[in-house]
Amino acid sequence: MNFIVTGASRGIGFETVLQLVELGTNKIIALSRSKSGLSKLVEEGNQLNANSRIYPLCFDLKNSDDSQLLQLINTEFNGTVDGLVNNAGTLINKPFAELSREDWQEVYDVNVFGVTSLIKSIKSFMGKENKGHIVNIGSMGGFQGTEKFSGLSAYSSSKGALACLSECLAKEFEDDNIHVNCLALGAVQTEMLTQAFPDYTAPLSAKEMGTFIADFIVNGHKVMNGKVLPVAFKN
Ligand SMILES: NC(=O)c1ccc[n+]([C@@H]2O[C@H](COP(=O)([O-])OP(=O)(O)OC[C@H]3O[C@@H](n4cnc5c(N)ncnc54)[C@H](OP(=O)(O)O)[C@@H]3O)[C@@H](O)[C@H]2O)c1
Repeated sequence: MNFIVTGASRGIGFETVLQLVELGTNKIIALSRSKSGLSKLVEEGNQLNANSRIYPLCFDLKNSDDSQLLQLINTEFNGTVDGLVNNAGTLINKPFAELSREDWQEVYDVNVFGVTSLIKSIKSFMGKENKGHIVNIGSMGGFQGTEKFSGLSAYSSSKGALACLSECLAKEFEDDNIHVNCLALGAVQTEMLTQAFPDYTAPLSAKEMGTFIADFIVNGHKVMNGKVLPVAFKN
């Protein structure tokens, strides 16, 4: 199967790609800005399973140039994408009063507008006779009714927008045979978590969460569409 995973240079995205590599004969386009992170990913992936293949591509979600990505989909995926994991995300931890308009723009550019642009770019390669699956990686902070954390208003509200976007697109893409779901993650031990909560140790590793997400992108759409699922021990 053919997958695209964003935010693949480290953390949860990195481990999701490695799990997809392990699962079978998959091809994965791995996107992020860091060339070194992607090189490490390819190196580890090659050692895990030579039957799968990772195609690394340096890609900034704030930049709308998708020409190299579309070329890769055409040449290496024969124009078919089975699954897209919108995992990349960014977080700014500041009290509301200190957040500038640029801060809000930065967070929404990556967490919301980057996702909408990417989906728009690749939608025509998904669905029809092969059922497609888009998984948006949200957060418990953006899940309705959960206790919120101070300093994360830009981040958490962007993840709330992503959750609602997932429900909207699930409806809009129904006739195209593309299912869209959102996973609202709880705490996972990564660089982002350390940035938000320096003194906290998460109950889950990036590898454990990556294993769940890899299975979900392959199988979740067979039984659900338009769902925002809490994936956490606690709310
Ligand atoms: N860790 C948690 O506890 C937790 C909880 C809830 C939700 N989440 C969500 O899970 C996802 C993965 O988080 P993580 O904890 O693995 O974070 P992380 O370790 O900070 O990794 C973030 C990834 O996003 C990529 N990224 C950031 N800005 C980008 C941009 N402008 N263009 C392209 N890629 C960009 C980074 O790659 P480059 O820097 O190389 O571009 C990196 O690969 C995020 O959406 C996050 O919000 C995490």
